[in-house]
Amino acid sequence: MEIVQAFETSFGAKPEVVAQAPGRVNLIGEHIDYSQGFVLPFAIDAVTRSAIRKRDDGQIRIVSAQHPEAMIRSSISELREKGGTGWSRYILGVLWALEIENGLDIYVDGRVPLGAGLSSSAALECSVATAINHLFELGKSLTQLAQLTQRAENQYVGVPCGIMDQSVSLMAKGGYALLLDCRDLSTQHIPVDFAGAGLRLLIVDTRADHALIDGGYAERRASCESAAAKLGVVSMRDLDMQHLESQKDKLTAVEFQRARHAVSEIARVLNAVERLRTKQFVEFGELLNQSHISLRDDYKVSCPELDLVVDTANANGALGARMVGGGFGGSAIALIKDEDAGKISLAIEKAFAEAGYQAPRFFDSLPSDGAKLIS
Ligand code: GLA
Repeated sequence: MEIVQAFETSFGAKPEVVAQAPGRVNLIGEHIDYSQGFVLPFAIDAVTRSAIRKRDDGQIRIVSAQHPEAMIRSSISELREKGGTGWSRYILGVLWALEIENGLDIYVDGRVPLGAGLSSSAALECSVATAINHLFELGKSLTQLAQLTQRAENQYVGVPCGIMDQSVSLMAKGGYALLLDCRDLSTQHIPVDFAGAGLRLLIVDTRADHALIDGGYAERRASCESAAAKLGVVSMRDLDMQHLESQKDKLTAVEFQRARHAVSEIARVLNAVERLRTKQFVEFGELLNQSHISLRDDYKVSCPELDLVVDTANANGALGARMVGGGFGGSAIALIKDEDAGKISLAIEKAFAEAGYQAPRFFDSLPSDGAKLIS
């Protein structure tokens, strides 16, 4: 295996464990994981692999296939001082969250496109966590690993993300989307058969800046929390539209808009699950559009590039389209007919060129497996 050889070249011995974990797209349920809502992501076929071996001197050495020339050095004692910069802190954060007290050699190969809003960071965290869980026989469940990797990202890296990305990277199953209840972390695997209906999900990376670490994401999260506090509920999950409308005057205009997105999006996810089960893909596509409009107008996390993908896809025959992930850039998805794939990609490329944007990147992926050990 390529990664075993690369590990040996870097560290002079074979790894004791190799694991992989995928990136994700979210079909629907955006910006509601931290409001205890439902989300419906699936794992894509792009994965990050991690190969690991114990060391007995307390040192941590990390090499990545993407930067093979630079070996990052740290130590178990340094882990206690959180922070630092660069991609290696996602790995160090996982070691910190799992309370590892042993030196390690770690080689990672990240094939999830970076900065595309496809959760390359969750893929990295979850591949390391899966390998470490096995190597040290920690016996953590997938739910515990999701919580611990989220903790690594929240507290060590300093990104206030919810639990969706890590959960799907760990728990996904090929052919299914993962319906995750972010209140009790229960899951159901929902079959997704777009191909059987002559459809596919086009993923378009706008290559616009993905500003999760900036204040926008935290600000949205804070608005939902302050709205919940003012309405005397634990989270947006406890509201329905009627209740929210009747209490409108207790909220600022912004809090009301943010809450309206959250409450309507939670309902759309449950509706979308029924549409998938009954293969009502036209109605499913319409829900994608509604989600996008709500994210654009009420939650205000879209951007001109994402809107352009959505509008162009829809103008060229998509059943529906929307931005995915944190927003402010990253990727959008469009549910399209197989035969329209060429036409829609070309139309998006052309629209981007005319607007003076960087050329977008196109992917498509069937729902794929979650994290696993591969040796
Ligand atoms: C990012 C976060 C997730 C989730 C999405 C928005 O991907 O990591 O937890 O909040 O944004 O749905």
